[in-house]
Amino acid sequence: MKRVFSGVQPTGNIHIGNYLGAMKQFVDLQEEMDCFFCVVDLHSVTLPQDPKSIYSHTLDVASLYLAIGIDPKKSTIFVQSHVPAHAELGWLLQCNSYMGELNRMTQFKDKSKGSESVSVGLFTYPNLMAADILLYDTHIVPVGNDQKQHIELCRDIAIRFNNRFGETFVIPEPQIKKSGARIMALDDPSKKMSKSAENPLSRITLMDSPEQLKKAIMKATTDSEGQIRFDLENKAGVSNLLTIYSEFSGMSISELEQKYEGLGYGALKKDLVEVVTASLSSIQQRYHEIRNSDEIRNILKEGAEKAEQVANITLRRVKEKMGFVLL
Ligand code: TYM
Repeated sequence: MKRVFSGVQPTGNIHIGNYLGAMKQFVDLQEEMDCFFCVVDLHSVTLPQDPKSIYSHTLDVASLYLAIGIDPKKSTIFVQSHVPAHAELGWLLQCNSYMGELNRMTQFKDKSKGSESVSVGLFTYPNLMAADILLYDTHIVPVGNDQKQHIELCRDIAIRFNNRFGETFVIPEPQIKKSGARIMALDDPSKKMSKSAENPLSRITLMDSPEQLKKAIMKATTDSEGQIRFDLENKAGVSNLLTIYSEFSGMSISELEQKYEGLGYGALKKDLVEVVTASLSSIQQRYHEIRNSDEIRNILKEGAEKAEQVANITLRRVKEKMGFVLL
């Protein structure tokens, strides 16, 4: 059976970009594959974080995994710091990759821009991410478009390691959706929707109330043409709204273009509010049932035990190949 691994950082409220780009795929994949879904808390400390916020967001992300439909009987759900092999393999991979290749990572350039003291962890972040993936002999990594470069680097590191030390790692493939892999900010469709943007109206989080998401959608930047059609180059705002609509409703973009022919942006936005509200309300109901129950901690404990068993076998194989004395 093919193996799947993916992770989400507990750095803020999960938004519909995270959901449509990555997490929604997780739910479908668990039906046919052996899936590991991780809350990557070690990644989140590459930038300064409030300890209280990491603590609560870690439990939030784990609860959301369940609330969107990930079934702990089918998939392994766990927290990265509960499995020490991640940090250990991360180090070994740091020693098998080069400053030059890490220097090319656009996410490092973006996140370090303008900051005087950048942590070493932010620079070596892709090594830890490669460790996450390679520890589980992963075949498929479902992610949004912004993680493509990191997965390419992970593949390069794994191929190089295999060439140097002999067959050790499975070479993973990214799985990036054709539509929805890059949801843009509502206030500025030239930027990707992000957890950390200052303007809360730039995003819709999975926890938004109907009033909050209505405000963000009704204020979303469009254009002055007044025609509802998909055109990424000239109509980025409207195209983004159509993508979100299509992803939540299951209707194709061309069906939506037909439905709204001759109508204005107000009509599109009003219906989009309804579609998103309906989808999020069932997720939110389940989330509130889970978040403060004991169930979540038990699931994470079982998940960590299962993940650790798989990860430790790979780590041992790596150490053996590299010449470490094993007991
Ligand atoms: P993170 O926490 O930033 O995002 C989680 C997932 O959401 C996707 N995503 C988006 N998709 C569409 N539109 C957007 N605007 C958008 N913003 C984010 C991301 O691509 C991601 O799939 N480095 C990863 C976490 C990670 C990981 C891993 C992922 C650590 N180890 C191993 C896969 C495999 C990150 O920061 O994701």
